[in-house]
Amino acid sequence: MTPPATQPTANNLDAFFMPFTANRQFKKNPRLLAKAKGVHYWTPEGRKVIDGTAGLWCVNAGHGREEIKAAIARQLEEMDYAPSFQMGHPKSFELAARHAALLPGDLNHAFYCNSGSEAVDSALKIALAYQRARGQGTRTRLIGRERGYHGVGFGGISVGGMSNNRKQWGVMLPGVDHLPHTHLPAKNAFSRGLPEHGVELADELERLVALHDASTIAAVIVEPCAGSTGYLPPPKGYLQRLRQICDKHGILLIFDEVITGFGRLGAAFAAEYFNVIPDLMTVAKGISNATVPMGGVFVRKHVYDGLMNGPENVVELFHGYTYSAHPLACAAASAVLDIYKDEGLFQRAADLSGYWEDGVHSLKGLPGVTDIRNLGMAAGIDMEGRKDAIGARGYDAFVKAFELGLMVRQSADTIAMSPPLIIEKNQIDEIIDIAGKAIKATA
Ligand SMILES: Cc1ncc(COP(=O)(O)O)c(C=O)c1O
Repeated sequence: MTPPATQPTANNLDAFFMPFTANRQFKKNPRLLAKAKGVHYWTPEGRKVIDGTAGLWCVNAGHGREEIKAAIARQLEEMDYAPSFQMGHPKSFELAARHAALLPGDLNHAFYCNSGSEAVDSALKIALAYQRARGQGTRTRLIGRERGYHGVGFGGISVGGMSNNRKQWGVMLPGVDHLPHTHLPAKNAFSRGLPEHGVELADELERLVALHDASTIAAVIVEPCAGSTGYLPPPKGYLQRLRQICDKHGILLIFDEVITGFGRLGAAFAAEYFNVIPDLMTVAKGISNATVPMGGVFVRKHVYDGLMNGPENVVELFHGYTYSAHPLACAAASAVLDIYKDEGLFQRAADLSGYWEDGVHSLKGLPGVTDIRNLGMAAGIDMEGRKDAIGARGYDAFVKAFELGLMVRQSADTIAMSPPLIIEKNQIDEIIDIAGKAIKATA
């Protein structure tokens, strides 16, 4: 028998059906990452690449953290797995208490799952169950937003607003409507931080209430700062207004903080940054620094309490995953919280965000750059696309950046960047320099 190849070759890339990837194109010219430490990756050939995206917006504390590795190894030694259905293990309860202490307001209960997509579908189900439990079972409608990304479950794609993520899947969930997106380049291009214009777009929720009636609407879900469609910070006052309208009509507000949670904006959560407390919050990614898959739904006291009715021996929420609160994920997430606290990483992100903002906005004026947006430690750069080939320039810029030693994210002709929060100023300079070269090279 021939031993398995240690280095993937063009011949043996075939079996892996890659997610969100042009498989045939990739396999002809693969981009492989084999090693990671700090803010860098290395390719199998040993080429160093600076991580301009914290993996996929998730490695907030940087790669290869010894403390997390040790915590996972200890947990594996102690107990590999325990179910969370009608059983429990101490680390899940400890972690939930730690998250509750970190969360703003009375967001003080945590449900755990394994990804952002699961977190979103769980949050939508909790919202429906809550409305029913409080005698408002006619509230079944869910409201999302155009250009929103809420993962790939049927709930998430239904409330999501990216046509490529929707068009292949038929009718999806019924009874879903969408708010308009808040991207207004004609008025807000090259805004630094929160854009001035667009608060009135939150009033579209009043229009949807008038159309459907509040008694049919369970929840509204938005990303406080939309990530995957090119990083779209909300207009000033928008989230506050959305909160007011939800309160007025008894509609639950869900913040999808899968990207913004755990420090990206220079605060623990966007809810804290904006001082707007949602009823439910979804998280993933930075919760475990991406070491062990984990997601979660944080809920406010009234939502949890509202579900704790009926006889005590009855399961209040018929929902959960085999790997909900997996011991390894809990151990990792707890070690990550220590790092965030001990290194003051959320404050560090806040302190660095001005330098980051200056850096990304220095790319204004490069050929075909039509807008630059930033908030916290992330940014989106829009480039003029090629005629009849949406996304071609964005893809070329992404590939060029990788060749030059930088990993960025591409969404159509937008480049998004979100480095680990441990990034140093000279490394930000390097990211900006290479991104600029990639943009110029593809003009
Ligand atoms: C806002 C938001 N929600 C949900 C998800 C889905 O997370 P996952 O890929 O872990 O399922 C993502 C992923 O990028 C996201 O950005």
